[in-house]
Amino acid sequence: MSIVIVNKISELREIIKKEKSAGKKIGLVPTMGCLHNGHKSLMLKAVQNADFTVISVFVNPIQFCPGEDYDKYPRTLDSDKKIAESAAVDVIFAPSVNEMYPGLEKFSDLTMVVPPYELTDIMCGKSRVGHFDGVETVVSKLFNIVQPDIACFGMKDIQQLFLIKKMVKDLNFPVEIIECPLVREESGLALSSRNKYLSEKEKEYALSISKTLFLIGEAVKNGIIDTKKLLDIALTNLNKNVELEYLEFVNKDTFEKIDEINHTAICAMAARVGDVRLIDNIIIEV
Ligand code: PAF
Repeated sequence: MSIVIVNKISELREIIKKEKSAGKKIGLVPTMGCLHNGHKSLMLKAVQNADFTVISVFVNPIQFCPGEDYDKYPRTLDSDKKIAESAAVDVIFAPSVNEMYPGLEKFSDLTMVVPPYELTDIMCGKSRVGHFDGVETVVSKLFNIVQPDIACFGMKDIQQLFLIKKMVKDLNFPVEIIECPLVREESGLALSSRNKYLSEKEKEYALSISKTLFLIGEAVKNGIIDTKKLLDIALTNLNKNVELEYLEFVNKDTFEKIDEINHTAICAMAARVGDVRLIDNIIIEV
């Protein structure tokens, strides 16, 4: 059966109701579109774990901070449709802003889901103030609209994944979160919709991000566990055209910052290459 594109919440609810009453397990992959193979791996995982899979394609205005790329964020529904079809997804839910946030004049009028401050005053949340409030709010709405049994999220957005798992637990959403590994190009560059913005030269510079993370992984294997020393290694190796926003080490289970790697940890980086902000991370098992 070919894929169906649905724009209205009421129409989607009807479809889901029918599938649920036929005993189908519903899978959801929330996306902002501009789909690539990283998203495809999430869709394939959802299709494998559910009987009926919905992906949402919605560039969510409330998770963009002032001055960010909301207006210029790539909108590519035609090619998204092809990729979703190739993963055997059943429905693309592509609502308008007005459908998701009807009549809203300013986003401060909206009831929001807000994650704990200590978990957002680090990594991406520190520079993107309010970003995760927007993410958790839209993901909550999507969970309420689709009522999925499972939902797939990628480990590239590792802070987002942690916060969504916590939100699901704290707010008792009846959904199982499936975490999917980060997907890289052969070169090592983490797949991202924002890679589209990079020139060939910038792409070369951007490779230094994953290379530096891998170097840190190797250094830990060689016994360097002091995160200050690991940061020094990163700073001396990162290409000079890559402007570091943060390099942070956190405990994988609690997201607390750590001084030494003596428990499974996440080493995460955000950096700018030209105007493009990129994120990447590695899990360091000990
Ligand atoms: O990861 C993303 O693309 C977005 O943050 C998400 C989860 C689709 C919410 O808009």
